[in-house]
Amino acid sequence: ADILSRLFNGGVTPTPIPDPTAVTRQDFPADFLFGAASSALQTESSATEGGRGPSTWDSMLEGADAVNSYNQYPEDVQQLVKMGADAYRLSISWTRILPDGTIAGGINQQGIDFYNKFIDELVNNGITPIVTLFHFDLPTALQTKYNGFLDTQILDDFKAYADLCFKNFGDRVKYWVTVNEPQVFAQYGYKIGMNPPDPLPVTNPFVAAHNIILAHATAAKLYRDTYQPTQKGEIGIPLVTQWFEAYESGRPDDNAAKRAFDFLTGWFLEPLIYGDYPFIMKALVGDNLPTFTDDQKALVKGSCDFIGVNYYTSSYAKDLPMLGPNDTITSQADFQRANLTSANSQGVPIGPQAPGSPSIYVYPQGLRDALIYIGNNYGNPKIIVTENGYPEKRDDTIPVETAIQDDARIQHMIGHLYAISEAIKAGTNVKGYLMWALMDCMEVGSGYNVRFGLAYVDYLNNYKRTAKKSSGWLYSFLNAPAPAP
Ligand code: NOJ
Repeated sequence: ADILSRLFNGGVTPTPIPDPTAVTRQDFPADFLFGAASSALQTESSATEGGRGPSTWDSMLEGADAVNSYNQYPEDVQQLVKMGADAYRLSISWTRILPDGTIAGGINQQGIDFYNKFIDELVNNGITPIVTLFHFDLPTALQTKYNGFLDTQILDDFKAYADLCFKNFGDRVKYWVTVNEPQVFAQYGYKIGMNPPDPLPVTNPFVAAHNIILAHATAAKLYRDTYQPTQKGEIGIPLVTQWFEAYESGRPDDNAAKRAFDFLTGWFLEPLIYGDYPFIMKALVGDNLPTFTDDQKALVKGSCDFIGVNYYTSSYAKDLPMLGPNDTITSQADFQRANLTSANSQGVPIGPQAPGSPSIYVYPQGLRDALIYIGNNYGNPKIIVTENGYPEKRDDTIPVETAIQDDARIQHMIGHLYAISEAIKAGTNVKGYLMWALMDCMEVGSGYNVRFGLAYVDYLNNYKRTAKKSSGWLYSFLNAPAPAP
């Protein structure tokens, strides 16, 4: 309690969000992509239409119908045009094109036709598609057959699915990302015993993560060998990224911050860049962490043309003497202690809380620091900020005209754009910024209770989309004349 109360009352003082005039379009390279993101599961609806097969996360739709992008995608594209977006990150629903997840189970041509129409609509409107192959929605058939990512059989099935996507859409899609937020999927999809009385083995997330890394690398190799020479696109992976600020200067908390980063982002980043897990994970997780063979290391190392950074929040890290040097992780409690330290896993505030999500502390400078840290420690890779966003609470009693005045989101974007511009000035190779989300949609974990969109969705009126003030702000930001030198 003492440590926690000190944490709540102290720590670093966040620097204020800068004046809006401090950041302009000219602070970014000419080829920088500005835009928005979404996923199939959270927007498409029509889960049982058009020949789509079931996915394990369909139950997340909670009987409602996402936001009907399956039918209203041309309106989505017009919202992107309104905000002046260069790019849109969408995901393909695996079971919409392979209903049981496998080629042997049959290809659903209706699904291929749908994504062809959607991608054409984007390209015809000057929007660059950035396509996620897998955003949480695992084919139910593969979960039933072999427990999905817990089994290496997923490698062949994922590769065949990726092949189908590259073959059908790669003439127009030049940016691919493989598995969205693998840290989240591995932990929530294959829970680390969070479900008493039937806790799952603590090894699950590590095994799932291992297979995700191999699935990513296998798809990337296929793309590079077979498609990249002619299609000339790039392939990457979107990783959850937080900044961990040492609570007190000095080695213990600096180490705690590094450890927290390694257990969240380094878990994937380090194999993908350097070919193996972070040292501290190997030391603390011990035999519960799978090992890469030499061939696998060679496959995985360098398997990204760019890194996707999904950034929402930061935490303090405080060293808590809970794990001894010879302890290995055998329970969920151990995992959490080693993972974030118990203090920051309880969400110690580092900035103001976003209204729609108790776990999001708005801390733009954490994005700057994380980008610079990745640049300095991982060979300055190309980075696209594949998600950043600000959740409002949904309240349908507020009239639409009022609800779309999202000044707080504009401040949020200004702060984070400024943070990126500082990282770029420091030499980091950031090449894109995508806001989550294009429009309000189903939120994983909290359903329809939060609004992340730059476009408002009227759930009571046929999902009508209305641009929020932030959408117009982005358009003005992107199209403002260059300031006088
Ligand atoms: C992470 C996920 O990729 C996305 O599905 C989710 O809706 C947003 N971030 C916001 O939490």
